[in-house]
Amino acid sequence: MSVTGIEKLEFGVEDLGACQKFLHDFGLQVSAKDPSLFTTLSGAKISLSPINDSALPSAFETGSTLRRITWGVKNTADLDKIINHLQTCDDFQLTETGAQCRDPNGMMVAFCLSEQKEVKVDITGINQWGDIRRVDKPSPVYEKATPINIGHVVFFVDDLSATEAFYCQKLGFQVSDRYIDRAVFLRTQINGFHHNLFLLKLPHRGSGLNHVAFTVRDIHEVIGGGLAMNRHHWSTFIGPGRHPISSAYFWYVNSPTGGAFEYYTNDDYLTENWQPRELEHSLVSFTEWAVEGGLDYETRRQVKPAKG
Ligand SMILES: [Fe+2]
Repeated sequence: MSVTGIEKLEFGVEDLGACQKFLHDFGLQVSAKDPSLFTTLSGAKISLSPINDSALPSAFETGSTLRRITWGVKNTADLDKIINHLQTCDDFQLTETGAQCRDPNGMMVAFCLSEQKEVKVDITGINQWGDIRRVDKPSPVYEKATPINIGHVVFFVDDLSATEAFYCQKLGFQVSDRYIDRAVFLRTQINGFHHNLFLLKLPHRGSGLNHVAFTVRDIHEVIGGGLAMNRHHWSTFIGPGRHPISSAYFWYVNSPTGGAFEYYTNDDYLTENWQPRELEHSLVSFTEWAVEGGLDYETRRQVKPAKG
């Protein structure tokens, strides 16, 4: 089976206007026909609807949040196989473009043929010792980010083993790494970036959305994107920083859609030769380093906590 990646995220939100502004400021492209529909460079979609819109599936937590995720599939034969595997799942139904059902965590998951476009963007190399990739050319400075695609989503889960089994056994997802008794990182295919889905079980926290994450070109675009969000007065959850477990540089911004929106780059690319690791969930396994509260656009220094 070949689930290729995330095709669409549909949110039900309390403040449609604020969410439209957030997605615009984040660097997503707004549809000419629909002010609540946005795309990445690859054509992945993010849609906004009022929280009580009856066309949305029911929510897995209260407040603004993700209501449906659509995964893209490589070809019709694979889509048929997936539909076969899902028929006994909760709320299974055929749709115009494929099928959908509930995962064991209560999220509505849909499947369709992928319409993602290959994205060709200019990448400026990094000069490292013995590996000169940039000659007579400065490194870029970005005024804002332009996300390339939706790289991964992260859910809080109630039943980690049942949810992991759904994605691995019915959809062919691969385990990349694990936090013992706490979380699992999954990628859609054997050859792929470190994770497309991260399932996290926390004590005293039921099902819900933790964050959605967008791939950008390089570390400079992570920084430029985060600074631009600060300029537009959106608050940082955490970042910039680096995860040792995927090697990715990140910057997370609190979102009025629910959860956080993340810019990231430089995550590990894995193959059949990768051996999944089992790690303790700890501060050092989550962050090598990170800035709490972000960087300020005006001063180019860390945002200072308010004096109280
Ligand atoms: Fe992430």
